[in-house]
Amino acid sequence: MSVSLYITSGKGGVGKSTLTANLGAALIARGCSVVIIDADIGLRSMDALLGLENEVVYDLIDVAKKDCSLSQALLVSHRVPGLNLLPASQFARARDLEKNRLKKIIGELKQKFDYVLIDSPAGIERGFRTVLNAGIDESLLIVTPDDICIRDAERAAQVIEHKELPRPRIIVNRLDPDLIFRKEMLPARVIADTLDLPLLGEIPEDPAVYRSVLRHTLFMQYDCSARRAVLRIAGRLQGEIVPLPEIGLERPSLWKRLLTHRNLKEVTPIDSH
Ligand SMILES: Nc1ncnc2c1ncn2[C@@H]1O[C@H](COP(=O)(O)OP(=O)(O)OP(=O)(O)O)[C@@H](O)[C@H]1O
Ligand SMILES: [Mg+2]
Repeated sequence: MSVSLYITSGKGGVGKSTLTANLGAALIARGCSVVIIDADIGLRSMDALLGLENEVVYDLIDVAKKDCSLSQALLVSHRVPGLNLLPASQFARARDLEKNRLKKIIGELKQKFDYVLIDSPAGIERGFRTVLNAGIDESLLIVTPDDICIRDAERAAQVIEHKELPRPRIIVNRLDPDLIFRKEMLPARVIADTLDLPLLGEIPEDPAVYRSVLRHTLFMQYDCSARRAVLRIAGRLQGEIVPLPEIGLERPSLWKRLLTHRNLKEVTPIDSH
């Protein structure tokens, strides 16, 4: 049975697009067929994350407006064979995408692929709501461990539940094990409990993520902690029991404690005149 998954957040810039691309690769590694829809109309990024930025000819809006067929618009990643992309339009606006058209496109893609992953625009405005009304099966809410992001996630979750969709599952991104151990950062479990939503996974802050984004590749191609975390999330999505929590349980090494995260040193406030 195929599934359409909406990867979203309240606050922007929390790692939705990066995680969507890499989760796609993780599901492919597990033998599934996957297509990603870039629903961030006007601010497309998924084509670049997948190294396909020079190959976009048609996009989601072209398909919705019937200017081309769905198969004409689909691109396939060279780095992750089998990972398909329906790119976003660079110049259109969210209002150019009509919910019934998107619903039809998602329906058609579900007939061809096991997973239809939909990358969300930032915020809970028009673009976000159009996808919620377009027949998605489930949503994954990405949160970073700070109170502003948690508050915005709560708002997004309310909008999702208001549409009578299943309660979103939480992925907490950019966790720092040392800060969690020192009780300076909220652990993922506390964030999920605060939001009263089920926790699907935890992803550490990992320099490999940034380095792979710069190279227009996926961190799933490198041996790194973010990769291992996303593989565990893919397992849970497919019903495997992979225990949580994972991050922040162990005492950091003495070396790490000495070199990193020294106490914050306050400086004299900047003079206003
Ligand atoms: N676990 C991580 N470790 C380190 N860097 C990360 C991690 N997750 C995301 N990032 C970085 O955060 C930045 C924002 O990521 P991304 O563009 O995927 O966020 P987004 O939620 O899609 O943003 P927008 O809301 O603008 O669409 C990127 O530079 C990415 O490299
Ligand atoms: Mg994005």
